[in-house]
Amino acid sequence: MKILFLGDVMGRAGRAAVADKLPGLRAAWKLDFVVVNGENASGGMGLTSAHAKGLFEAGADCVTLGDHAFDQKDMLQAIERDSRIIRPLNYSKVAPGRGARVFTDGRGRKILVAQVLGNVFMRRAFDDPFSAIDATLRTHPLGGAVQAALVDVHCEATSEKMAMGHFCDGRASLVVGTHTHIPTADTQILPGGTGFQGDAGMCGDYYSVIGMDKTEPMRRFVTGMGRERFTPAMGAVTLSGVYLETDDTTGRATRVEMVRQGGRLTQAGPD
Ligand SMILES: [Fe+2]
Ligand SMILES: [Fe+2]
Repeated sequence: MKILFLGDVMGRAGRAAVADKLPGLRAAWKLDFVVVNGENASGGMGLTSAHAKGLFEAGADCVTLGDHAFDQKDMLQAIERDSRIIRPLNYSKVAPGRGARVFTDGRGRKILVAQVLGNVFMRRAFDDPFSAIDATLRTHPLGGAVQAALVDVHCEATSEKMAMGHFCDGRASLVVGTHTHIPTADTQILPGGTGFQGDAGMCGDYYSVIGMDKTEPMRRFVTGMGRERFTPAMGAVTLSGVYLETDDTTGRATRVEMVRQGGRLTQAGPD
């Protein structure tokens, strides 16, 4: 199976780039399944149902969220209406929506998508992500109930993300980090067959501070005093993520490549 995972879409510029480029990538790379992290797609904070619709129309099969899952209040209802939207498994016991779902591609193959939030350096403590993903992977064995399993590990610390990769090795086709918005150069297939990249990076303008116009973050770092709200940077966007090929029998990764298309970080794709 050929799968593309795109990291956090940042604001209007990120949405426009996904709408502009994803249909072409989907066709050119003959993608069977596409996951897009949408937690920052609406003004950099959360995701509205209208903007989720735009990501699906561009070619996403599944949209994952993150710690900003419910910054846009209409997502509290929208996630119950559209099961293609996934929030973290361990967000809260009372959160609407779900943290994992099995999708079926055009050829009937089953793909599990799950998301967990890390605990290191995050805004608040969440339930244990390791036991949460363990329970989900045990009930969806790779090469058995599902032909592919994709885990979005949404956290700040690369150490926690790498530990999650090892924890899921052999049980997931891909473990990919989101949330930090900066792609990591550690793309690899782990010994048990799990594709891994510590962070997918963002679909946003890299002449910025993690996708936000640099003026206000710079002011806060330099002077310690905030004056305005953060706003997403509007320059040329790099679509960042991971391209994955899997074996349909075992569910294991056979190829994993970093993807950076357009904007300042562009590089060649998998073809
Ligand atoms: Fe994010
Ligand atoms: Fe986040």
